[in-house]
Amino acid sequence: MDKTTLRTVEELAREIVGSSLNYRYDICTCPKCKNDIVNHIVAKISASSIHLDSENPEETKNFYQREVNRTILSVAEYVGNHPNHIDTEDRKKTFSALLHKISNERGLDLRNYHTDILKRRIALRLQHNNIPSYSAYIEFLTKTPKEFDRLFETLCINVSEFFRDTPVWVTIQYLFENLIAAKIKNKQSSIKLWSAGCANGEEPYSLAIALKEALRGIPQISRVEIMATDVDKACLNFAQKAIYSKENLKNVSPKLLARYFEISEGKFCVKDEIKNMVSFDYLDFTSQQYFKNIDVLTCRNVFIYFNRRLQKQILDKFCDCLVPGGYLVMGKSESLGTDYE
Ligand SMILES: C[S@@+](CC[C@H](N)C(=O)[O-])C[C@H]1O[C@@H](n2cnc3c(N)ncnc32)[C@H](O)[C@@H]1O
Repeated sequence: MDKTTLRTVEELAREIVGSSLNYRYDICTCPKCKNDIVNHIVAKISASSIHLDSENPEETKNFYQREVNRTILSVAEYVGNHPNHIDTEDRKKTFSALLHKISNERGLDLRNYHTDILKRRIALRLQHNNIPSYSAYIEFLTKTPKEFDRLFETLCINVSEFFRDTPVWVTIQYLFENLIAAKIKNKQSSIKLWSAGCANGEEPYSLAIALKEALRGIPQISRVEIMATDVDKACLNFAQKAIYSKENLKNVSPKLLARYFEISEGKFCVKDEIKNMVSFDYLDFTSQQYFKNIDVLTCRNVFIYFNRRLQKQILDKFCDCLVPGGYLVMGKSESLGTDYE
């Protein structure tokens, strides 16, 4: 590699290392380690057999930018975990201690959540509070119990909206039609749904609206129960109030909006006929008993946070709580995994 290219690679590495490790608290990112990371990246790229022979500086820059981005993760992992100086913190230990504190004091067991996601979410709180390390954050949490609420909000990622992922709701509508036909055929008059990981209530209310629509003109089904559960108590409180802003309702058709919502001071309130169909409760998948005899269980955009072991445990329990032939609806980017195929 010629000197000019080498300089380009070093500049790129310094720039990328400088900007992309801000959210890493699981490795040492002190100025010395950052410098070591840059040097390792440059050494690795210059020793590599993959090079670009181009006269065009723009093309060269783009090529080596990709190479630096490709190399940085493994190098940062190695150098950051083996700093060339005495390290004051064992980050693996303090990260575990933080999860332990959350579990002990707030009852949320995160040991089987995806570690990378947890690290990214926790980093947001450290950045926000200008706190340099997990150990300092543990102290901060002890002195500032209110921060626990913010951390909980950040970890639970309770974003949702009414009729989220509209194509899924076309399937749910079809599924309801089949379910109702089967119930009538078997002379059964009740339907039981469970929205597991319901966040702020948009999903269970969407289920209530969709089912109400499917049951129009069908008096044979006289009892509908919709259970909605979450591990975030603040979410459950919000959901029970059933008042939403316009952004949550962009997938609701004007017909359904007029039929099932009242507008007050620019906010949309779910009408009592829908509100009364849903009962909210605290339920933690990792530790609690599940419901029984569920016809349709929606658990969407929750599994992505869990590791395979926890996913499998939960799926086994879901199988037990569904009626034979019951339906499980998962998120668009989630799957049962190979063990269930
Ligand atoms: C992204 S929201 C999904 C909301 C809704 N299902 C949807 O798809 O729009 C994920 C929800 O899962 C909940 N959750 C996370 N861990 C949980 C657990 N162990 N038990 C129950 N709910 C959990 C979070 O509190 C959050 O409200």
